[in-house]
Amino acid sequence: MKIDTVNLQGHPNGDVSFLQITDTHLFEDKEETLIGIKTFSSFNAVIDHALKYAPSSSAVLATGDISQDQSINSYLQFGNQINRFLLPCYSLPGNHDNHRIMKNSLLTQGILHPQLIESEFWTIILLDSNVTDQPHGFLSETNFEFLEQFLAEEASHNSVKNVLICIHHHILKVGSKWLDEHILINRKSVLSLIKKHNFIKAVLSGHVHQESDVLHNGVRFMTTPSTCVQFKANSPVFTTDSKAPGYRHLVLRTSGKIDTRVLRIPSGLFDCDKDHKGY
Ligand SMILES: [Fe+2]
Repeated sequence: MKIDTVNLQGHPNGDVSFLQITDTHLFEDKEETLIGIKTFSSFNAVIDHALKYAPSSSAVLATGDISQDQSINSYLQFGNQINRFLLPCYSLPGNHDNHRIMKNSLLTQGILHPQLIESEFWTIILLDSNVTDQPHGFLSETNFEFLEQFLAEEASHNSVKNVLICIHHHILKVGSKWLDEHILINRKSVLSLIKKHNFIKAVLSGHVHQESDVLHNGVRFMTTPSTCVQFKANSPVFTTDSKAPGYRHLVLRTSGKIDTRVLRIPSGLFDCDKDHKGY
């Protein structure tokens, strides 16, 4: 099995740390808005904040919905801003992205789309969960087999690394009926597979535009705020939240422990249109 892999140098003590930037929903036109928010401006404010306040990181993980209009320019604008971190950036697609355009555009700016990121003590697996023109996710047979085979091979090694899985769609329900309809549809098979391997420490997603961090069968499932519009937690129908745009910082420790927190820009800078009834 040929796997697209990159090697990442962590901190001298073996830890590896990431900034997770997700659901930027950028447009070709920087002035364009999503539910009342200029997504380019809020993304830019998040980058400014992270450059000033986030602890040091080994790399950036971009977990999908980078573009809202799938334009080449939206991806180029993403790359221009992300490269302000002067860090490697690895990305996977969300349901609003066009994978081909995204991959080709971001590659021109050095942003890669590996299946695996390898560090000394951790393997990070990046999965594509997209279904063309559908908001829900699905892990295709090919991607499922890749995951299954890779994990089985890992399990056969004497010294197994810790694993973090990154995937745009959430796998555990977040408690919002409308968002949970847009979950990874074949999540039960994925959860059964995850349960077989105790070296999988966490699953990191975007998609739900809200923070969550739940321990399920010993595995940590995390979601992260968007850099633009936030969705209200536990709401049965589409409802925006007044919380500020944000991002996540993660430190993957050599022991397998993860220290993480969500950071947000000051509230009140980017208010969305409260009367919007859909997304
Ligand atoms: Fe999104």
